[in-house]
Amino acid sequence: MNKPNPYRPGAGLMPTYVAGRDEIVSEVSGLYEAMLAGIPVQSVIISGLRGVGKTVLINRLQAIAEEAGVFTKYIEIEEKKDFISQIASCAQAYLREAEKKEKLKNIIRKGMDAIKALSLSFDPNSGNLSLSVQDRDLYHSYNLPQSLTDVFQAIGEVAQKTEHPVCFFVDEIQYMRTEELGALISALHRSNQLGYPLIVIGAGLPKLLKMLADEKSYAERLFTYHEIGSLTEKEAELAICEPAKKIRVTYEDTAVRRIIEITKGYPFYVQQFCQIVFQRTEREIIALKDVEDAVAVYYHTLDGGFFRARYERCSDTEKEFTFAMAKCGSLPCEIAEVARILGRKTTSVSPYRAKLINKGIVYAVRHSALDFTVPEYDAFLRRCEDFHAWDRGIKS
Ligand SMILES: Nc1ncnc2c1ncn2[C@@H]1O[C@H](COP(=O)(O)OP(=O)(O)OP(=O)(O)O)[C@@H](O)[C@H]1O
Ligand SMILES: [Mg+2]
Repeated sequence: MNKPNPYRPGAGLMPTYVAGRDEIVSEVSGLYEAMLAGIPVQSVIISGLRGVGKTVLINRLQAIAEEAGVFTKYIEIEEKKDFISQIASCAQAYLREAEKKEKLKNIIRKGMDAIKALSLSFDPNSGNLSLSVQDRDLYHSYNLPQSLTDVFQAIGEVAQKTEHPVCFFVDEIQYMRTEELGALISALHRSNQLGYPLIVIGAGLPKLLKMLADEKSYAERLFTYHEIGSLTEKEAELAICEPAKKIRVTYEDTAVRRIIEITKGYPFYVQQFCQIVFQRTEREIIALKDVEDAVAVYYHTLDGGFFRARYERCSDTEKEFTFAMAKCGSLPCEIAEVARILGRKTTSVSPYRAKLINKGIVYAVRHSALDFTVPEYDAFLRRCEDFHAWDRGIKS
């Protein structure tokens, strides 16, 4: 009989053992306690590269919040699913629940009206709402930041009166439209000033930090920030060994060290590599040789899937730009250096930088420095035949 495979590589898949992140979990748990005790707290931003475990972390934080008695909703920003209509329905769900518990007719009515206004200020033709002509005229005059602020103020007031704090989890915040992000910041700013027990825990790529600062200068002080990355050696060891232990399989120490060396402790890569090692052996003690035997398949799987999916989204010129980044030697790299390697002026390569940032392949670490949003993407490029062909071309 085949033994079950305890590893779960994939977007947002909860691993069978969540390694590390203890500090953030304990800090955020403290925020829930504070809100439940009526003490106002700041919202939280978790940023990190692709596959480091942001979604897994916020799912875990959501489960803890629910257990603690905080009202929660999870929102994922996608191109097709805008933020405003999602937050409107989350706010509505909260008020409906509050309605059952307490007699707060007036405030709840005010909140429901604010949600209608929000939906209309975002989409005046919203067919989901039954409104009189007068209502439509009234709500047309609202703007997005004001409407979202009204909604947050209304639910914040209910949250305070019912002592039932609210936490919205917003994943992939970097995809939020500028006007939506601006509205969210304004709304949080106001409810924060009023001391309401309402927070947002947001997750996204590192470029999010700049997006927030660009949108509103005070955004910096509105949130506490946590950047997550690869696991420490000890945490990676747990991520490797604990899932296997559940089915009485262990690793030799040298095997564990080699997996950490190859995956650099990045959670997605650990899950992917261990899944492959596991698929290929029936042994109860996994040895270094089992790991070595799986290395080629591991790179083949990543290169043909995870990395290639991103690579194929780039035009030929954008690919050359990324090749030059991989050739810089160390990352983050300066745009001037990329231009020098390409034999062009910085101004003439800047549009490709902008396109790659837009596609989510690259992000600006500082104004002039760049890095890849996917860990180890430069190593992938250096394994590509296209890279070597290009490299031979620039040398000749
Ligand atoms: N703390 C952890 N311990 C072990 N494995 C983890 C941990 N966090 C995440 N993983 C695994 O890593 C992979 C990526 O996790 P997740 O999707 O949460 O990353 P992400 O940062 O949200 O990525 P993306 O930016 O692509 O959305 C999943 O396979 C998940 O099971
Ligand atoms: Mg994610």
